[in-house]
Amino acid sequence: TIKQLSAWEILDSRGRPTVKARCTLDSGATGIVSVPSGASTGAAEAHELRDNDPARYRGLGCRKAVANINGEINSALSRRPLAGQQELDTMLISLDGTPNKSRLGANAILAVSLAFARAVAIERQRPLYQHFADMQELSLRTLPRPTINLFSGGKHAGGQVDIQDVLLVPAAAQTMDEALAVTFAIYQSAAELTYKKYGTRSLTADEGGLAPPFPNTETMLTDAVEAIEIAGYTAGKDVALAIDVASSHFFQQGQYHLDGQQLSSADMIERLTDWSSRYPLVSIEDGLAEDDWDNWSGLHNRLAAQTLVLGDDFLCTNPTRIQRAITNQAANALLLKVNQIGTLSEAAQSYQLAHSAGWRVTISARSGETEDNWLADLAVGWSGDQIKIGSITHGERLTKYNRLLEIENETHLPLIKWPTLS
Ligand code: PGA
Ligand code: ZN
Repeated sequence: TIKQLSAWEILDSRGRPTVKARCTLDSGATGIVSVPSGASTGAAEAHELRDNDPARYRGLGCRKAVANINGEINSALSRRPLAGQQELDTMLISLDGTPNKSRLGANAILAVSLAFARAVAIERQRPLYQHFADMQELSLRTLPRPTINLFSGGKHAGGQVDIQDVLLVPAAAQTMDEALAVTFAIYQSAAELTYKKYGTRSLTADEGGLAPPFPNTETMLTDAVEAIEIAGYTAGKDVALAIDVASSHFFQQGQYHLDGQQLSSADMIERLTDWSSRYPLVSIEDGLAEDDWDNWSGLHNRLAAQTLVLGDDFLCTNPTRIQRAITNQAANALLLKVNQIGTLSEAAQSYQLAHSAGWRVTISARSGETEDNWLADLAVGWSGDQIKIGSITHGERLTKYNRLLEIENETHLPLIKWPTLS
């Protein structure tokens, strides 16, 4: 039974407000969590409730979401016997009453859903990762392989290039510890390389990736390969690349506006296929726009044998969209962001759907993050294939990498093998 729910506003890694919540159970066990916030968001995401008062944080305040937890949600849920997470989440969904959680706010609802999970884990004296595994009746098997932001563009940087991220996949690393050490070496060589090529010390983007003025996307990929080689690794063998194209954000009127050209969906598929034949790409996220449904099957058909065809904005961690993509054979991997859907139970359903279709799952942070590290526990507990946190800079990212190192030290779980794709 929940004794009390309370919440307050805090600032995220961009200095924008977000929600932090506390859930105290009858036993006295207390869970405190904070929720992240995206910038390159999908249209089908659950609704993040903002105050829209332009005089305060340019309308981005979260006082309404906070007030909903302290008021209505606390009154409805506290002192009521609850069987567990599923029942809590179902009650939150029906209390809100809208299809996209716009009345109470997905930020308010998720904060309560997660704070409850953490409080129950504390009450049961279970590590949070173990509690997340229990929730889905999973056993702990592996640590997720990190995919780590190296270069940024698009909405996370100044838009100097159209695509959003180039990520490192330390494919041969045997442990989390080794994966991070390899990443550090390449990040340093990339910082030196881009300093030499572009003249200024690279500014870092929202997730800590380097964001020099690349002239086009291919240079971003070529520089990434060069940085891997300079650091002494073999690109495509020791370390591979992943990209988040985030193409919804440069798709207008049926055309992809990429590198100064206008591409049709068929041209875009050609371009991605060409990149994956010339660069060691093992995962392509949002290669097509979120509503370009008809062409995702074509993309999957062309690329599934070589790379993960990963849906972020395309799927929005939404079971209905995931089911449709499974039926249409439109993807083979899910980027799972709990706040895109708004409760742990619905995110678990998304995970199960993807997993039972044989897809890979990447558990992902948002570009606006907090110093909370529940994401690392979630990725381990739910046996994520990959985890995407951002770069190995900035405290809000490092707290999650450091939590993974702590879990590795505590459990000695092996790092998952890079999947061989069928
Ligand atoms: P977001 O972006 O958190 O800004 O939505 C992350 C991503 O696109 O993967
Ligand atoms: Zn994305």
